[in-house]
Amino acid sequence: MSTKSILITGGAGFIGSHVVRLFVNKYSDYQIVNYDKLTYAGNLENLVDVADKSNYTFVKGDILDEQLLDEVFEKHEIDAVIHLAAESHVDRSITNPNAFIETNVMGTATLMNVARKHWKDFNGKLFYHVSTDEVYGSLGKEGYFTETTPYDPRSPYSASKASSDHLVRAYHHTYDLPVVISNCSNNYGANQFPEKLIPLFIHNIKENKSLPVYGKGDNVRDWLWVNDHADAIDVIFHSGKVGETYNIGGNNEWQNIELIKKLCEIMDEKLGRAAGSSEKLITYVKDRQGHDKRYAIDASKLKNDLGWEPSIDFAEGLEKTVDWYLQNEAWLKNVTSGAYQKYYQEQYQNR
Ligand code: NAD
Ligand code: DAU
Repeated sequence: MSTKSILITGGAGFIGSHVVRLFVNKYSDYQIVNYDKLTYAGNLENLVDVADKSNYTFVKGDILDEQLLDEVFEKHEIDAVIHLAAESHVDRSITNPNAFIETNVMGTATLMNVARKHWKDFNGKLFYHVSTDEVYGSLGKEGYFTETTPYDPRSPYSASKASSDHLVRAYHHTYDLPVVISNCSNNYGANQFPEKLIPLFIHNIKENKSLPVYGKGDNVRDWLWVNDHADAIDVIFHSGKVGETYNIGGNNEWQNIELIKKLCEIMDEKLGRAAGSSEKLITYVKDRQGHDKRYAIDASKLKNDLGWEPSIDFAEGLEKTVDWYLQNEAWLKNVTSGAYQKYYQEQYQNR
């Protein structure tokens, strides 16, 4: 594929920042335009190392803003989109579903409408929608999600992502928009906002705060290192078949409580605390409403068709992740304190 000007939405967020960095550094002949609204979850500190590269541009914008998107498509002659911008946290979707419907459903439709308008022919064009395994619902003890598992979303977040997946497929079917979708399991790694399980618990252990385990802690998630997800997106973007869906997973299932105990063990060691001291912070709290029991991905299509596999195991990934959060205390303080807004104004408002 000879795509040269790529719009990456949500590039200032957790996964998006890794995708932007990978593409900017690996493909110097591509122009990468990072389009992000900078919600609480978007943070340009995640990208300071690429901010001044000549093939990188940041545009602060909402995916619901059709006029600004028109200008960006026109000015940068966008010929591919990697769409990651979304409201991403399940707990927030339970308290404020509308934000999820607006950004994830309406925002995705707006973005595709703009792409259709500007792409006079679809030759060499691609709309890549980054989605989640949560669209498939919840598994019992056995089985895996495959690309043909029927959709059964159960939270406002997963329902909004399922809706956007359906819209993306409908635009492909109806208008021939060249699309590809990937559905990935739980990511962990650097730059994740400390509301999600792993960064929240690292933060709380460091601060000697309690670790709120929902329900019995027996829910199961399949964890993937975020840099491996970014690599998978690179592979699918360049070699995936238009119209296809690819599941991405770590083949790495953990019951929450077992993962939390492992994290406590690593933290005790790294912080030089007595063995067992972090585990004492574990507090069982009321379960998440509608809490999905188990997610597990069968990623064999991606392996067999495109040759992608995770590059590191969980022990290595978790240790790297803990090290990153311990070495980046200022980042953690900024994103949790509002100091980030000040940083953004100083760095970017006057450019
Ligand atoms: P995130 O919450 O860390 O980042 C989302 C980014 O989107 C932020 O930078 C935010 O500012 C931006 N954004 C939000 N609303 C916007 C809007 N209206 N217009 C423009 N930008 C907006 O999310 P993440 O965890 O990096 O997830 C990225 C994508 O990957 C999402 O689509 C999510 O559904 C999907 N996904 C996430 C995971 C995971 O484990 N985190 C797993 C599978 C799929
Ligand atoms: O599966 C992919 C999805 O993974 C992504 O699409 C979502 O964007 C991402 O947020 C993630 O969703 P989860 O709900 O699985 O992630 P979270 O980190 O919120 O929770 C992981 C598990 O830990 C889940 O079973 C709920 C539990 N949990 C979470 C938090 C924040 C707790 O027990 N206590 C907590 O404080």
